[in-house]
Amino acid sequence: MLKTTILKAAQEAGQLMKSRFNSGFRIDNKEGINNLVTEVDHASEKLIMDIIREQFPDHFILSEEIGEVSTDSPYKWIIDPIDGTVNYANGIPLCCVSIGLENEGVMIMGAIYNPFLEEMYFTERGKGAFLNGKPIHVSNKTEVIQSCLVTGFPYTYLDMPNGPLEVFARLIRKGIPVRRLGSAAIDLCWVAAGRFDGFYEHKLNAWDSAAGFLLVEEAGGRVTDFKGDPYSPYQPRIVATNGRIHDELLRWINDQA
Ligand code: IPD
Ligand code: CA
Ligand code: CA
Repeated sequence: MLKTTILKAAQEAGQLMKSRFNSGFRIDNKEGINNLVTEVDHASEKLIMDIIREQFPDHFILSEEIGEVSTDSPYKWIIDPIDGTVNYANGIPLCCVSIGLENEGVMIMGAIYNPFLEEMYFTERGKGAFLNGKPIHVSNKTEVIQSCLVTGFPYTYLDMPNGPLEVFARLIRKGIPVRRLGSAAIDLCWVAAGRFDGFYEHKLNAWDSAAGFLLVEEAGGRVTDFKGDPYSPYQPRIVATNGRIHDELLRWINDQA
């Protein structure tokens, strides 16, 4: 029932996003500049929460726009109702719904749906990673210099050594392709599917990466913080790779390459 519910919620919220794409919805600003939220983010969030609550009324929910709806349940749903809202608000069809599920603090399941490409990514701990029902695997590149990477930038720039722009410049100056799609969840899906060899970002929230980090691990990849320690979605930094380039990419990020 957990799997049926997560897939139904991701699918239906994705269809809602697609049906309201370019439909003249209201757009508001959150804190900072260009940190947007649309009417559709709220509608998608409500739809997902209604579907979860219908089956599991006592489960804990953490969702981007509404925040925490806390209960005593060991199950916690972590929801990004639209990941890639700036893309969505600008009519760029690179956005998705992301839902992760934790049990006793361990991520056990994730679903990410991009309705524009009709790509449903699903993972369950210990059971692999899937795109539209077919198993997916990370790439087999072995060096950063041969790799195609992806990153993202926070809405407010963090002016610090090895900050987002510094790391980006370091890689770009060496001729390494680093893409910027605007959806961390899609970035993680595409690492899991072997389209990208690695992804890093300096400042994510739990809802951006909850489903995607498990997907990458289950597709055979490795996910850590910038020190190489085991990843937790409750801290901001992420490096997610095919595993083979991981230690080298950590050195590039930490300016030790
Ligand atoms: C954002 C996207 C983006 C990342 C930002 C996130 P949102 O999520 O995932 O790729 O760089 O840090 O906040 O706001 O579109 O849900
Ligand atoms: Ca997000
Ligand atoms: Ca969002």
